Amino acid sequence: MPIKRILIDTDPGIDDALAILLALASPEISVEGLSVIHGNCSTEQAYINALSVLHLAHADNIPVARGFELPIAQASLLAPETHGNSGLGYAVLPQPPTRTQARHAQDFLIEQILSAPGEFTIVAIGPLTNLALAMRREPRIIPAIAEIVCMGAAIRHHGNTTPLAEFNVYVDPHAAHIVYHSGARITLVPLDVTYQCILTPADVKRLQKIDSPIPRFIADATRFYMEFHDEYQHIDGCVINDPLALALTFAPGLCDYEEHYVDVDIQGGVSMGKTFADFYKMSKKPANMRVALGVRARDFIELFLERMEKLSTSILA
Ligand code: BDR
Ligand code: CA
Repeated sequence: MPIKRILIDTDPGIDDALAILLALASPEISVEGLSVIHGNCSTEQAYINALSVLHLAHADNIPVARGFELPIAQASLLAPETHGNSGLGYAVLPQPPTRTQARHAQDFLIEQILSAPGEFTIVAIGPLTNLALAMRREPRIIPAIAEIVCMGAAIRHHGNTTPLAEFNVYVDPHAAHIVYHSGARITLVPLDVTYQCILTPADVKRLQKIDSPIPRFIADATRFYMEFHDEYQHIDGCVINDPLALALTFAPGLCDYEEHYVDVDIQGGVSMGKTFADFYKMSKKPANMRVALGVRARDFIELFLERMEKLSTSILA
């Protein structure tokens, strides 16, 4: 299989950070840039976190582009209760080397995608503001994207931010609306599958057998994330949403999919940001995406742990 070229649009964020590490640990893909967006923390903080996580994994060569600071039409909504004030829980990472200010994420995405039509897979694991506004500014990128693997939405599952809405969609539902109806090839990775993928305290302990800064980072970041899951959702462990989306770029067999017409409520009110699939084809609208609705969760967690062990062994203390 040829190596897939990947761009990650991300709001790091604890599970975003784990997705970035998984990407760097995966020889089937080549990470050619990160574009950063608000969400779990501010864009400014998310940019610092992206640089710090790359530095941790000795990947300072990967370009990072800073994106929009605010959603398209809504007020900002960040998630310090889930990811901590810094976005990375209790982890404190060494300062990354300063970079000369990179391009804006909108320009970066457009330039990269148009430089190699049909080659880039976008792994979108934050609110979709960057991607939506790149599409609006340069619609020629839409057919030039090989695929968007998009973590977000709650189809049959309840919301994790309102009773009905998932975080990435709720933060910028207008952006999700633009991307969902863009005509791009989309694989949606909703809470229906990610909430089955729980990293347990025993999993994190297993990684600590390797004396490397990476397991220590994972322990410090996920300790906060697990406290959140325990307090708010009574889950023992933490849900690693974003790494599942990343893994599907090279291990699509981890999930089962259905093609559906999916939409998002942007009318406002109690169901703002609610995503839904037209399972019975009542609207007669053609499917606009492939939706992951089943997952071999433990296989995925094993894959994640094995790759973190390998990456950690290559970067010893
Ligand atoms: C999504 O929201 C964020 O908190 C996570 O990073 C993930 O991308 C899950 O709803
Ligand atoms: Ca995220």
